[in-house]
Amino acid sequence: MKRPVRIAITGAAGSISHSLLFKIATGEMIGQDQPVILQLIEMPQAMEPLRGIAMELEDCAFPLLHSISLHDNFEEGVVGAHYVLLIGAKPRGPGMERSELIATNAPIFAHQGQAINKLANRDVKVLVVGNPANTNALIASRNAPDLSPAQFTALTRLDHNRTRGIMANHTGANPKDIRRVTVWGNHSSTQFPDLHHATIYGEPALPQIDQDWYRDTFIEKIQKRGSAIIDARGHSSAASAAQAIINHMHDWINGTPENDWVSMGIVSDGSYGIEKGIIYSFPVRCDYGRYQIVQGLEISEFAREKMTLSEQELLTEMETVKDLLPKETGESH
Ligand code: NAD
Ligand code: LMR
Repeated sequence: MKRPVRIAITGAAGSISHSLLFKIATGEMIGQDQPVILQLIEMPQAMEPLRGIAMELEDCAFPLLHSISLHDNFEEGVVGAHYVLLIGAKPRGPGMERSELIATNAPIFAHQGQAINKLANRDVKVLVVGNPANTNALIASRNAPDLSPAQFTALTRLDHNRTRGIMANHTGANPKDIRRVTVWGNHSSTQFPDLHHATIYGEPALPQIDQDWYRDTFIEKIQKRGSAIIDARGHSSAASAAQAIINHMHDWINGTPENDWVSMGIVSDGSYGIEKGIIYSFPVRCDYGRYQIVQGLEISEFAREKMTLSEQELLTEMETVKDLLPKETGESH
């Protein structure tokens, strides 16, 4: 049996975590042979409901759940963590853009980046979910100067999954037969769900669908899916976000399938002309716990315009939070 790994999770009594924690404990995130220690972190006022969730986890008698610890202090909760899921943050309400959460949520991630830098395992893998996820991941990474920026990622897998799920429903194909979709850019309404390289049953996807529908309806549907869910449900996506977190971490740790790739918010190395250093969603392949940007994809003028729009939005968000970004010290930042 393997030694247990430590997973620190903020917002552990929130809506996303309510679906997520039980999936992690069954082995869906890392693997069926990997015991886990859950280090659950919450605000002091949410510790009582968190205790209830811990009781429920215990009552499931999950073989892979080695132990659980509860923390109302991030520093204590992140000690030795191999994986850190930063979910704890305010969600947006109806009629809001995610960037309107910057003033409330961004400062959380500067403090957490510093603590991860000091206290987490040196090989830690960090996923930022709290919105605006890309910019929060940038803040956390820049405040962790002893770790590689490549260790900090933002969740855009939900957008990737939405692209496949909605395409599958539209075409009648199974989602598993829709491959090589890419979501470029920010986890916001400027993101670009790109089908130019996608395949359905191994054949190019675009010739199989109506071009006007793709350009005028589909793209906006994916961009605004988060708002549509908030309007319908009165709260932002939770179960689908939990599923996307499982998929993102699983593939980062265990690798992506042959003949496919996934979308992850990662630090830009300048690929596809995107400004170096921002956290931007790219197509990536993962192997042996690392990811690499898929290179050499042809970018049409239509795609370039949309990719640039999202890049510009991220640069504007970066300017807004510049006081939370310590000066760069290393080449790789
Ligand atoms: P929620 O309000 O149900 O739960 C958030 C929890 O975080 C609360 O229990 C709160 O007490 C806790 N929290 C707040 N600040 C904290 C801190 N500093 N440390 C520890 N815990 C803290 O919200 P939710 O629905 O679980 O969503 C959480 C965040 O995830 C929101 O910002 C939401 O917009 C975002 N989100 C992102 C994606 C994505 O794809 N990137 C998808 C869905 C939701
Ligand atoms: C989503 O995409 O569902 C989340 O980011 C929540 C939101 O605010 O839309």
